[in-house]
Amino acid sequence: MMLKIGLLGAGWRGAWLAHEVEKSGLGRVVAAHDTNRPFAETMLKRLDLKIPFVERESILNDASLDGVIVATPDDCHRHDACDLLRSGRPVLSEKPMAIHIEDCDAMLKVQHETGQSLQIGFNLRFHPLYQKMREIAASGKLGKITTVWVRHFVGLGGDFYFHDWHSVRDKSTSLLLQKATHDFDVIHFVTGAYTRRLVALGNRAYYGGDRDNELTCPACPDLHTCPEANRNPDNPRNECAFRKEIDVEDNEMVLLELENGILANYSQCHFTPDYHRNYVFIGTKGRMESFEPMRRVKGWQDDCRIEILYRNSTERETIRFDSESPGHGGADIRMIENWLAALRDGVFDRENPIAGRQSVAVGCLAAESLRNGNPWMSLPPVLYDHKKGM
Ligand SMILES: NC(=O)c1ccc[n+]([C@@H]2O[C@H](COP(=O)([O-])OP(=O)(O)OC[C@H]3O[C@@H](n4cnc5c(N)ncnc54)[C@H](O)[C@@H]3O)[C@@H](O)[C@H]2O)c1
Repeated sequence: MMLKIGLLGAGWRGAWLAHEVEKSGLGRVVAAHDTNRPFAETMLKRLDLKIPFVERESILNDASLDGVIVATPDDCHRHDACDLLRSGRPVLSEKPMAIHIEDCDAMLKVQHETGQSLQIGFNLRFHPLYQKMREIAASGKLGKITTVWVRHFVGLGGDFYFHDWHSVRDKSTSLLLQKATHDFDVIHFVTGAYTRRLVALGNRAYYGGDRDNELTCPACPDLHTCPEANRNPDNPRNECAFRKEIDVEDNEMVLLELENGILANYSQCHFTPDYHRNYVFIGTKGRMESFEPMRRVKGWQDDCRIEILYRNSTERETIRFDSESPGHGGADIRMIENWLAALRDGVFDRENPIAGRQSVAVGCLAAESLRNGNPWMSLPPVLYDHKKGM
């Protein structure tokens, strides 16, 4: 049986996920809605996809759809997911779950009332590397985990985040949501504990400035000299990366205390020469560190692996993973296959809306801390607990 899937938002991510649905052989995206149809058509065409465009209401009212993917911008997730849950559709909604804690709580409330399935697009939970780290942490071979250090080198910052809606607080709150929501979730996922409280520092050290909000790269006199210019005419992310309206930070550091007493730190910078994540989990008997392949600087780091060291030992363990698969190292197709199988079998064992809410809460409170003189912030309790989802 081919599952029939609907799609809200057929931009970069929505089109890619539609392609993954097609590739899975388990389903097909049969209807899409997007408020910018020419852009969405270009995105689908790049991947050789032909999907009929329909009005939003027709996706909400189509009882033949087995599930709907929400890949609209972050500030639309609450409205889209709640309407779909109320209309009786299971939902896979992209990360971050939403851009405010109260939005996430509203989504949890609707899920609680409707009993419908709501999964957040935490694809890294389906990456074998992070699954392995969780397994190692739980096995006890590193002793008691006490410490987590995470560094996120976001070298494509300009390309992905400062040429469109991502860089405006009204649309995204902070890149500690948009980007770091994955990382806060991996910290929670691997340690098996949510954050209790946090404090943060941050600033905007590179992007933004005094350029007109209407300025685009193709129309800019500095097109050929600007280090951040988007010179690809097919890439519609072309608003100036130094325009006035940019008000999110590009350089942040967060200290976290988890519910079980583990201490963690997280740093992200959006103008590094390289692009990858690096996680360190330290226990009383040893430590493990992850390395992602990093193709932007050849020869710097080409493989995907975990390195493990033990105290009072010269032993060193290396576990290697596939470095070549597209879609976040193959995590996207695994997430989609899992969700489609859940729709088919009615067993939603990887639902994670509480995890979605908790990582948004960390990002929102960290943004609040760094913008208001760095007070410690405590996570408010989760009110609706339809499914635990750790
Ligand atoms: N899990 C991941 O690794 C991952 C990776 C990339 C993006 N994302 C998430 O996917 C979402 C989309 O990101 P993107 O990079 O594709 O952005 P995008 O801007 O390329 O695409 C968003 C699309 O939604 C459309 N849209 C805007 N408002 C709409 C509305 N009200 N109804 C219907 N369509 C609407 C836009 O026209 C556009 O086509 C974001 O939430 C982002 O965080 C997740």
